[in-house]
Amino acid sequence: MNYRDNIDLNKLPKHIAIIMDGNGRWAKQKGFLRAAGHEEGTTAVRDVVEGCAELGVENLTLYAFSTENWNRPKLEVDTLMRLLVSSLKKEIKTLADNDIKLNSIGNISSLPKKAKRELLDVIEKTASNTRMTLTLALSYGSREEITNCVKQIANKVKSGELSEDTVDESVINEHLYTRNLPDVDLLIRTSGEQRISNFLLWQIAYAELYFTKILWPDYRRENLFEAIYNYQNRERRFGKTSEQLS
Ligand code: IPE
Ligand code: IPE
Ligand code: MG
Repeated sequence: MNYRDNIDLNKLPKHIAIIMDGNGRWAKQKGFLRAAGHEEGTTAVRDVVEGCAELGVENLTLYAFSTENWNRPKLEVDTLMRLLVSSLKKEIKTLADNDIKLNSIGNISSLPKKAKRELLDVIEKTASNTRMTLTLALSYGSREEITNCVKQIANKVKSGELSEDTVDESVINEHLYTRNLPDVDLLIRTSGEQRISNFLLWQIAYAELYFTKILWPDYRRENLFEAIYNYQNRERRFGKTSEQLS
């Protein structure tokens, strides 16, 4: 089936988030070092980003490095940080050509200086692009994000800038890294694992979850189109009954 032609462009998910998993297993299957899997994963990133831009998806968020990933061997962490810098340098053209704005969520201050500098540079250079927002989750952990949010709100209540009675869901949204993004509509995880791994816990409250066995380096826009087609054929009830929706 040609999924691309069967996607309803008027009902696209406004925000797609992807847990890009399986780089290490891809490399192992081929007898390569894990680093080769991460390297190959960047090809999948480019193809999926372009695929989203082609369709008109407004927000794509990619889980690139979690707070827990800092616990991997130093060599692998270094490789990932180096790949981040080289990809940012290389892909600035892809972002410009497709009118994509780069954004990031996570604890950016914990990144190596060079990676942080390159990231902020590309964010600044693409700030006026409007077709799509590509958010990279880097040194991101949802629990850390929520903890920060609670601290900020507590401080504002203490100083009188906010009153306890006005704290509602929108105030919480305003204090998350994702403050400028809509809720996630579709969450995809590759590699066959069926877990969230500390990604966007608050933001996926009503997201449709889609798991595929494809390892991230093999993932391409056609696979994404299939996920979107699948998403469009689900009934999102948000607590209501099916009858109420029609
Ligand atoms: C995802 O692939 C990339 C990152 C988490 C940075 P993995 O490196 O987790 O690959 P597997 O899960 O070991 O196959
Ligand atoms: C989640 O993948 C993080 C990213 C994709 C960046 P992991 O491979 O780190 O997740 P777990 O540890 O297997 O749950
Ligand atoms: Mg993994």
